[in-house]
Amino acid sequence: MLILGIETSCDETACALVRDGREVLSNVVASQVDIHKVTNGVVPEVAARAHVGQVQAVFEKCKIESKIKGEFWDEVDAIAVTVRPGLLTSLIVGCSFASSLAWIFDKPLIPMNHIKGHIFSNWLGCEKGEIKFPVMVLTVSGGHNDLVLVKSERELEVVGETLDDAAGEAFDKVAKMLGLAYPGGPEISRLALEGDPLEFDLPRPMIDSGDFNFSFSGLKTAVLREVYGLEGDLRYADLAASFQAAAVDVLTTKLVAAAKKYKVAEIHLAGGVSANKVLRAEIASRCGNDFVFRHPKDFNYCTDNAAMIAGAAYFEDKSIWVEPGMSVSPSTDMRVN
Ligand code: KG4
Ligand code: ZN
Repeated sequence: MLILGIETSCDETACALVRDGREVLSNVVASQVDIHKVTNGVVPEVAARAHVGQVQAVFEKCKIESKIKGEFWDEVDAIAVTVRPGLLTSLIVGCSFASSLAWIFDKPLIPMNHIKGHIFSNWLGCEKGEIKFPVMVLTVSGGHNDLVLVKSERELEVVGETLDDAAGEAFDKVAKMLGLAYPGGPEISRLALEGDPLEFDLPRPMIDSGDFNFSFSGLKTAVLREVYGLEGDLRYADLAASFQAAAVDVLTTKLVAAAKKYKVAEIHLAGGVSANKVLRAEIASRCGNDFVFRHPKDFNYCTDNAAMIAGAAYFEDKSIWVEPGMSVSPSTDMRVN
């Protein structure tokens, strides 16, 4: 089954074509990073306007790069589009574009959850049956931070979530405190390479809480206190490394504990923060031979993209499909399922 995916939930305009939830034929992302660098963060209206300007061209490029022989629309079975969660004005652009295509070309729509997309980003590039269940997924980005038990492609259970900030948001805010550019995650990890992670003794919030929930606002505040204390003493690389080490410690500890409790076969890392090499290395080392560890096969599948949306849509029950001629709108429902 060939699914066209459309993703505009935040600041990436993306279209992709994916076969059977695993084989990526094309994956095009137009990043708005340069636009949002000016304001050191995303301004929703600005993001939405940029989506309007980009979405048609991104779709055309996706169509060309897919190298579909014959008539494109004869091959496409359905159009998947992110309807939640995300910035409302950004979601509207993707939903309207997808609904127009569905109406013109008489295709069903599949309304998709963005977090589910991240979860299924680890299926991209895999063979059928390669992934063994159950799987414990840590999906962590700027907007969300969840531990999800995946018992099968249709049975997902959230076993932990953040009570305040997501880890990616903490990376972005700490980067701002250290005067680094947006988005902060890659900047922090770059600066941390030059620093000593043992230099600052930062808290590991909720590491021993006994549940699988997270909290990163206290860690953020602890970094802010250190920044005030530094005044002129530029040990920013040490602070970046120490912050990253604290965040990685909490994320890895909870992930491995959840994997053990639920006796899973595999551990997966997903979401924008899954691009972090220190986090990947720490999880790999603490997994040992106990679990198969996967992260997205391509860095382009870590941060927001449409391949993960088209991929995840393949595994949805057809009862959620919207019949040709009908449209979809953004939803404020925050549940993963
Ligand atoms: O999945 P994503 O593109 O958007 C959301 O769904 O939020 O994730 C973006 C987040 C940002 O917070 C960004 O700073 C973070 O992922 N990120 C990273 C790295 N690359 C991106 N965080 C830590 N280390 C990285 N290398
Ligand atoms: Zn995302």
